[in-house]
Amino acid sequence: MNPTIDFHSGVNQGVAPVTYGQGDRPPRGDYSQARADYTCEQDWAAYSAADHELYRRLHERQSAQLQGLACEEFISAVAQLGAPDRIPRFEELSERLHRATGWEVVAVPGLIPEEAFFKLLAERRFPVTGWLRRPEEFDYVVEPDVFHDLFGHVPLLFNPVFADYMQAYGAGGLKASRLEACEYLARLYWYTVEFGLIATPAGLRAYGAGILSSAGELRHSVLSPEPQRIGFDLERIMRTRYKIDSFQTTYFVIDSFSQLFDATAPDFTPIYRRVAQAGVLEADSHLATDRPR
Ligand code: PHE
Ligand code: FE
Repeated sequence: MNPTIDFHSGVNQGVAPVTYGQGDRPPRGDYSQARADYTCEQDWAAYSAADHELYRRLHERQSAQLQGLACEEFISAVAQLGAPDRIPRFEELSERLHRATGWEVVAVPGLIPEEAFFKLLAERRFPVTGWLRRPEEFDYVVEPDVFHDLFGHVPLLFNPVFADYMQAYGAGGLKASRLEACEYLARLYWYTVEFGLIATPAGLRAYGAGILSSAGELRHSVLSPEPQRIGFDLERIMRTRYKIDSFQTTYFVIDSFSQLFDATAPDFTPIYRRVAQAGVLEADSHLATDRPR
């Protein structure tokens, strides 16, 4: 789940300021039972045997390619999601997650407005879409579903530093809404939480949920010679547009989750002003100041 404007290879997503979902299309999901904070019941009993089987196949395909491509913090936490052969019960998962880092997962009908999203994150409640993609969407789903949200995002919420970063992001989002800077903050989310890479002693690894829940982008992001990979640079990220309907052309690489947390700790108010002055960059732009990784 994430706040933004869009989505792509079965993995990304977003909530735009006014409309949400893609363009004028209403978001997928049943919003009639949602509470004022957009949370709802998971209704686990409503999943069919075919849903559980589809989830099992998605889980199996992604798990099989994590070694050497996903960061260790992610790999070691995947088992915490629960039995891989059925869609987890959010309540059970939340108990384990709460014991680890004080986070819980809450069900939402689908994409939610960004203020509601930020508020939940600031309360250490991660919104997870209830519905699962259809079988014909095995490789590609346009909006985030329960597989992307759980498999992509929840393992790293078991990591204390990353868990704190997500809460700080939520609080920062509420502030950015007041400053009309959500666009800049959405780019930070995109290039870290959704499509971030991390440099480890063993080599580059993925930690972004959009990569980790994607069948094709995991290998592409870590191994392909095509995309550019640039050392983390907060203001550079805030200026950089991103691709929503193809693999990323640029990835930003952090050295550690602590680096990410520390670099985003300062007050963003003056930073937003500088970024607005500096102007926007296309997704595939190169700058002389970029540190290639
Ligand atoms: N430090 C940011 C601010 O003052 C908040 C933030 C933290 C935003 C972490 C994103 C990630 O707005
Ligand atoms: Fe997401």
